[in-house]
Amino acid sequence: TAGLGKAGKSRNIIEKMEESDKNCVVFYGSQTGTAEDYASRIAKEGHSRFGLKTMVADLEDYDYENLDQFPEDKLAVFVLATYGEGEPTDNAVEFYEFIGSEDITFSEGATADDKPLKNLKYVTFGLGNNTYEHYNSMVRNVDKYLTRLGAKRLGSAGEGDDGAGTMEEDFLAWKEPMWAAVVEDMGLEEREAVYEAVFEITEKPDMTPEHDDVYLGEPNKNHLEGSQKGPFNATNPFIAPIVESYELFTANDRNCLHMEIGIGGSNLSYTTGDHIAIWPTNSGKEVDRFLNILGLASKRHSVIAVKALDATAKVPFPSPTTYDAVVRYHMEIGAPVSRQLVSTIAQFAPSEEVKAEMVKLGSDKDYFHQQVTDRHLNLAQLLEILSKGEPWTQVPFSLIIEGVLKIQPRYYSISSSSHVQKDKISITAVVESSSKPGAPHILKGVTTNYLLALKQKQHGDPNPDPHGLNYAITGPRNKYDGIHVPVHVRHSNFKLPSDPSKPVIMVGPGTGVAPFRAFVQERAAQAKAGQNVGKTVLFFGCRKRDEDFLYSKEWQQYKEALGDNFVMHVAFSREGPNKVYVQHKMEEYGEEINKLIEQKAYFYVCGDASNMAREVNILLGKIIAKYRNLPEQKGEEIVKVMRASNQYQEDVWS
Ligand code: FAD
Ligand code: 2AM
Repeated sequence: TAGLGKAGKSRNIIEKMEESDKNCVVFYGSQTGTAEDYASRIAKEGHSRFGLKTMVADLEDYDYENLDQFPEDKLAVFVLATYGEGEPTDNAVEFYEFIGSEDITFSEGATADDKPLKNLKYVTFGLGNNTYEHYNSMVRNVDKYLTRLGAKRLGSAGEGDDGAGTMEEDFLAWKEPMWAAVVEDMGLEEREAVYEAVFEITEKPDMTPEHDDVYLGEPNKNHLEGSQKGPFNATNPFIAPIVESYELFTANDRNCLHMEIGIGGSNLSYTTGDHIAIWPTNSGKEVDRFLNILGLASKRHSVIAVKALDATAKVPFPSPTTYDAVVRYHMEIGAPVSRQLVSTIAQFAPSEEVKAEMVKLGSDKDYFHQQVTDRHLNLAQLLEILSKGEPWTQVPFSLIIEGVLKIQPRYYSISSSSHVQKDKISITAVVESSSKPGAPHILKGVTTNYLLALKQKQHGDPNPDPHGLNYAITGPRNKYDGIHVPVHVRHSNFKLPSDPSKPVIMVGPGTGVAPFRAFVQERAAQAKAGQNVGKTVLFFGCRKRDEDFLYSKEWQQYKEALGDNFVMHVAFSREGPNKVYVQHKMEEYGEEINKLIEQKAYFYVCGDASNMAREVNILLGKIIAKYRNLPEQKGEEIVKVMRASNQYQEDVWS
């Protein structure tokens, strides 16, 4: 039916606000959940401090043709993340296309020239990463479009920078003047903020966790019933078997995993260059810490029903469930704590002394940084340190659900070719483990350590858990045979040229080589099948040839198939007295690079976004300028043009 969305819900935001008696909607465009979290926080604060009647809304769930009828006395907030190369997040694509359209038409038939949104008051905050080319372009463009359409912004258009690691502080600094502008414009009054729970938690003593209706970590009903059904996507992961797993190297406690994940029979498909999303499980060690410090350990397996007290709020996991399952499978309990959450939790501290310390941490930015951020503490670690282990039994579990991020899948660049193995996805993942100065704990990446535990289990490792991480290996109810992991596929634009005879240049040090293994594998298969395959040049970098040279034997096989058309230049950074990086190798072979680009070679970069990718980008411009006798600025422009026409492609992360 027109106007009805998922599950027959109305897509009319004005009607929805009317029905549920709201005067402020906080829309979010979120890919990994951070923007969604900020949206919830704005909604919550707007209500508790200023009495706004707020709701949070997924941009994907509503239509926008009637924004011209948005009532003057209400407020729309847009919290918008910029994704990848300046793209909107998946859930904001439609909104972005609509609002930016040159010939936009609203339900009243008004066109852009009439300032159709003159009644719309809005506030906006963007989440971006300055290491990417199109920093915060989503919020900048949406702000521009809304203004063009006559809408009135209250406060400044905020911009948070994940690249500089200042997102939280950027947000906190932006929101106070924003609220002041909203208060002034809407004639609101600030009130003493009192905590109001968004969720009601009811313990169900009549149910045990064995009960068929109780979710123990299953993502949805299909999984609960044991019959997983596609389509598999970000809300319905496929529980995939790990067909094979091994370590590409283990050196000085650094591990790098190669895994083959089976997708046969799932109707999931991928093409070379795509990403696979892996849904992690928290380590038993951190789950225990979390439940202990909140005083929930003794009832971790009690069955609870969780209900939203407000019709516009959504419970972020299925219910009924148990405390253990919520914490283990649905919450990002390992993430750094936000200063705002510390402020909110302070009132529930186990003693006045601890409360005073929490209030200080919440209100003093520098002190917070020194005591919390610089020590890389997660929530449970902080609470544990402050109360010296005494449990925080007064903290409402609703506040924990509201304040702790929903667990997010992690993405991996698929390192196999879909032509060569369409039913198996390879990944190449380096296990994150580091001891940072000042941190009282070794920092263990959630997903990669979980994958390592799965690999060790699969191989019957005699010492499978040296760090006592105690991961739940079999998943809820042990329904699926063997070792498995929840996944979905995310399609990307990082693609080989459709004509294999075109030359390609790839730059991927470390795990950045992942998609290039797939690219080379594919081109080797094409060459074997008699196709005309163009020059294939790979720049790879690692520490030492006998330490972390990924797939060192495999490259020989590809070379046999591709012959002289496959060239690999390897930079070993820790073999000689000076660091040698892929950039040095690029300089050495600059003339060849330029020549290939003149022959329309595609140029690819994968791996570290913060330094390597940026440096390679700049260097390529310099190389082009040098070998074409052009000013450097011209070289830079050529790279920009290459990027715009997809001749230059990046698959980078920080
Ligand atoms: P997380 O738990 O997410 O932790 C991340 C880092 O933070 C770790 O270094 C951890 O030590 C540290 N940390 C943990 N707790 C804290 C704390 N409280 N405070 C501060 N720091 C903390 N990776 C690959 O290995 N191979 C790939 O091919 C690959 N492709 C990618 C492609 C894309 C598009 C993207 C976005 C990322 C890709 N990544 C890849 C990175 C990958 O998605 C993960 O980010 C990475 O594996 C770490 O995940 P994790 O869950 O193990 O670590
Ligand atoms: P390093 O750790 O010895 O400094 C894979 O991680 C390889 O990338 C390693 O050899 C690492 O070297 C190297 N590397 C680190 N920083 C880099 C950068 N900015 N540009 C290119 N390579 C880098």
